Amino acid sequence: MKVLFVGDVVGAKGREMVEQYLPKLKKKYNPEVTIVNGENSAHGKGITMKIYQKLLSLGVQAVTMGNHTWDKKEIFEFIDEAKALVRPANFPEGTPGKGIVYVEADGKELAVINLQGRTFLPAIDCPFRKADELIQEAKKRTPYIFVDFHAEATSEKQAMGWYLDGKVSAVVGTHTHVQTADERILDKGTAFITDVGMTGPYDGILGVDREAVLKKFLTNLPVRFEINEGRGQLNAVLVEIEEGTGKAKSIKRILINDDHVYFE
Ligand SMILES: [Fe+2]
Repeated sequence: MKVLFVGDVVGAKGREMVEQYLPKLKKKYNPEVTIVNGENSAHGKGITMKIYQKLLSLGVQAVTMGNHTWDKKEIFEFIDEAKALVRPANFPEGTPGKGIVYVEADGKELAVINLQGRTFLPAIDCPFRKADELIQEAKKRTPYIFVDFHAEATSEKQAMGWYLDGKVSAVVGTHTHVQTADERILDKGTAFITDVGMTGPYDGILGVDREAVLKKFLTNLPVRFEINEGRGQLNAVLVEIEEGTGKAKSIKRILINDDHVYFE
């Protein structure tokens, strides 16, 4: 089973890049499942019903989220019906939505789990223990399990990778918006990367207009962050999972921007 995972889609530019390159990537790599992290897809903060549906219409089967899940208030109106939307599973009991979805592909099922880190992010339930709980549940249905760990700290993401090594097919980090070059298969067969990177503006700072970010660093005064409108980029990974065992066979980084030009 091949899984294409596209890193944090930021704003209109990110959506544009998905629209432009997803058909090409699908043609080139033939993934059975495509997952997109969509927590920044509505102008950098949250997701709307329209954008969620647009992503599905482009052939995305699961949309993962993160700390910006609730930024667009309309999420509360559609999250419970949105079957392909996965929000961090370790939000407190009773939170709307769900932290695991099952995607059907070729008669098999891929469990997609979203978790959020706690280092430099709001205090929520333990992502490690929540992972154990959900994996136990998922294993009853399928050996194919994919985890998007939305976290700030590199150490927490690496810790999660090693904690889940051999228990899931892949652990990929999101949230920090810069692709790391440490993709590998861990000792017991779990594909891992600290951060998949971001899909959106290439010329901003993590997607945000440089001017505002620089003003913040130089003056420490309150500033209004706007999404950069310049050139685009797409960051993703392709994970190949062994049939039957659910162990990862390979993980490949995909980076598309004007300095890393895409070849068909
Ligand atoms: Fe985030």
